[in-house]
Amino acid sequence: MPIDAPSAMRDRGSPAFAQLLAVGQRNAPGWERYEAAMRGIFERRYYTNQGPLARELEQRLQDFLGVKHAVCVTNATIGLMMASEALAISGQALVPGVCDRAVEHALAWCGVEAVACDVDPATGQICLDSAVTTIDGASVDAAVNAIIGANLWGGACDAEALASLARDRGLPVLFDSTHAFGCTVRGGRAGRFGALEVFSFSESNVLNAAGGACVATDDDELAARLRNIRSSYGAGRPVPVVKTSNGRMSEAQAAIGLLSLDDYAANQAHNQSLTDLYRARLSSIAGLRVVEPGGVDASNHQALLVELDERVFGRSRDALVERLAFDNVEARAVSRASVVARQTAALPVTARLCSSWLELPVGAHVREAMVETVCEIIARAHQEETAA
Ligand SMILES: Cc1ncc(COP(=O)(O)O)c(C=O)c1O
Repeated sequence: MPIDAPSAMRDRGSPAFAQLLAVGQRNAPGWERYEAAMRGIFERRYYTNQGPLARELEQRLQDFLGVKHAVCVTNATIGLMMASEALAISGQALVPGVCDRAVEHALAWCGVEAVACDVDPATGQICLDSAVTTIDGASVDAAVNAIIGANLWGGACDAEALASLARDRGLPVLFDSTHAFGCTVRGGRAGRFGALEVFSFSESNVLNAAGGACVATDDDELAARLRNIRSSYGAGRPVPVVKTSNGRMSEAQAAIGLLSLDDYAANQAHNQSLTDLYRARLSSIAGLRVVEPGGVDASNHQALLVELDERVFGRSRDALVERLAFDNVEARAVSRASVVARQTAALPVTARLCSSWLELPVGAHVREAMVETVCEIIARAHQEETAA
């Protein structure tokens, strides 16, 4: 629990928070609801393999997202691997320069090499012009054969523009929508774009199934392939597939996912009010910009990103991250896809953003008083530099 922050900050000897204030959503249902759900599983003795709760979660997700198929799996990395296999992606696939390594690694498991393009300086989402240049500039023996868009930090890329580019070039496009569960885009929930979209339900995300993920698609054939790839037992209509995996979602994950789905509106509203508070407190500090989630009608606000201009703020992004760590506040530096290491010179926005953006804690475990404290630490860090 946090201790009295202002006095702790006057005395730099002890951190403002006694325990780590972590980045990541960390929503959990109350213990009683969790216990009742687990009791049901133990009474039924049905623990995995498309059980009644996994089937119920798929139905509820289809209704919530407004898609024909929500194929639940054990995590988004497996979901991305299954997606790559189901779409028969080979050779090279385009990813945004700022992207979780899980995407590249899922592709690598399928023998596909990621190639990165640059991102938008205001939103950090994939930049369409850079996507075009990268695809068209690739040599014939290293052609880009697929586009992996990503909807990052509660914002969204321009999925329609990417889908139209993919159509023009005859490429499949899919979206890593790990951070975008519940966001609305062009009048409906994210999940309806491209061949498919993959959502992660790890504890970092607004929908938390203690792990878990789903692949959303409107394509019946693709869904049938995914359901057959998901496990060697298959599920639903059998269709021929080359490889199967074991990506089944357990009943325990589905139970927690269902409870978390019930809580979505409350968790989104809580994130929104924390975001409003951060915005109000940080906007007066010179050299900081709260990054608004672009490309969405409504965000899940599951991430709070700040851009720091080192010359104006007085400290570097990494020095601020370190300063916050002293007070037990996790501030995560935005990092580049590992593939970008080879290409940084060609991706100037990615390079800039990965040295100047940081993510601050929001989520069910964060209360407004904690945000006040975090903002106070940041203001003090700025004042210390400008006074020096
Ligand atoms: C953008 C992105 N994609 C994919 C993943 C992988 O998700 P999972 O942990 O469900 O495998 C992550 C994990 O943090 C992520 O941030």
